[in-house]
Amino acid sequence: MIVLAIETSCDETAAAVVKDGREILSSVISSQIAIHAAYGGVVPEIASRAHLQSIAPVISQALHDAGIGMEDLEGVAVTRGPGLSGALLVGFSAAKAIAAARKIPFVGVHHIEGHLFAPYLEREVAFPFLALVVSGGHTHLYLVEGFGRYTTLGRTIDDAAGEAYDKCAKIMGMQYPGGVLIDRMAQNGDPAAIRLPRPLLRDGTLNFSFSGLKTAVLQQTIKTPVSIPSQAADDLCASFQEAVCHVLAAKTEAAIRQTDSVRLVVAGGVACNSGLRLRMAALCNQMGVELSIPHPSLCGDNAAMLAVPGDYYLSHGLISAFSQDVTATWDMDSIKDLL
Ligand code: KG4
Ligand code: ZN
Repeated sequence: MIVLAIETSCDETAAAVVKDGREILSSVISSQIAIHAAYGGVVPEIASRAHLQSIAPVISQALHDAGIGMEDLEGVAVTRGPGLSGALLVGFSAAKAIAAARKIPFVGVHHIEGHLFAPYLEREVAFPFLALVVSGGHTHLYLVEGFGRYTTLGRTIDDAAGEAYDKCAKIMGMQYPGGVLIDRMAQNGDPAAIRLPRPLLRDGTLNFSFSGLKTAVLQQTIKTPVSIPSQAADDLCASFQEAVCHVLAAKTEAAIRQTDSVRLVVAGGVACNSGLRLRMAALCNQMGVELSIPHPSLCGDNAAMLAVPGDYYLSHGLISAFSQDVTATWDMDSIKDLL
């Protein structure tokens, strides 16, 4: 099945053409980062407008790159939620319009479902598997038993890991989104230089908390201001990264033990992080667990990842009605009720 996938949940307008839910024929991502950087974060109204301007050219480019026309499409998979309502509406409406015009089915997919299955675009992972999704809006541990069969084992009770990265970068005077910059600077710093808290490390749950860590970084910069570039800034970045990766790895280890998992998927934008990738590789090596982390180009928001669950749903007749709407919040555990 040739599926057109569309993603507009936040600040990336993306479209991809994927064959049989596995083979990427094209993947186009138009990022709005430069537009939002001036405001220090994503401005919803500006995001909606930028999606409107980009959606048609991005879809045309994806079809062109795949060497196909609209008439070759057999289905459309699109992010239905969670995300910014106005932003989601742009992609969702485009998907409906194409489905109606071409008389093909479309399916609304959960954005995090896309992240979970991004590794399938390189290599399939057998069910069941444990998944750590770390992005700008999510820090969740899921048990994945099949398409649509997800159980949340733990989640952040405040900031997401990516959000903590971006907020700490802002505190240190870096541009939005600073996650990747902290990662780069951390590689030249001493992770033991500054003592930072390990929130909820021993609370007995699989939940996370990152807001206290952000406050600790703020207090540290008030006590000892850092300029960029400097060794002190690199040390603070390395110490922050160490704290985040320590907690993520410890909770993942506990979840592996609790569920007797033999496979782990790490996905989402923060899965690009060099420290986290190394830490997870070491953990899985030590525990005899098969690790799947997508190539960095598939960790961040993209449309191709949505075609994996999308292809499954479309080919099993699980399609969306034209009356369906986007949803800004959407619990992963409730997806099975829709199947
Ligand atoms: O999955 P994603 O592209 O969008 C959401 O669904 O949120 O994740 C974006 C997040 C941002 O917070 C960004 O700063 C973070 O991923 N990120 C990183 C790195 N690359 C992206 N955080 C830490 N280290 C990185 N190398
Ligand atoms: Zn995402």
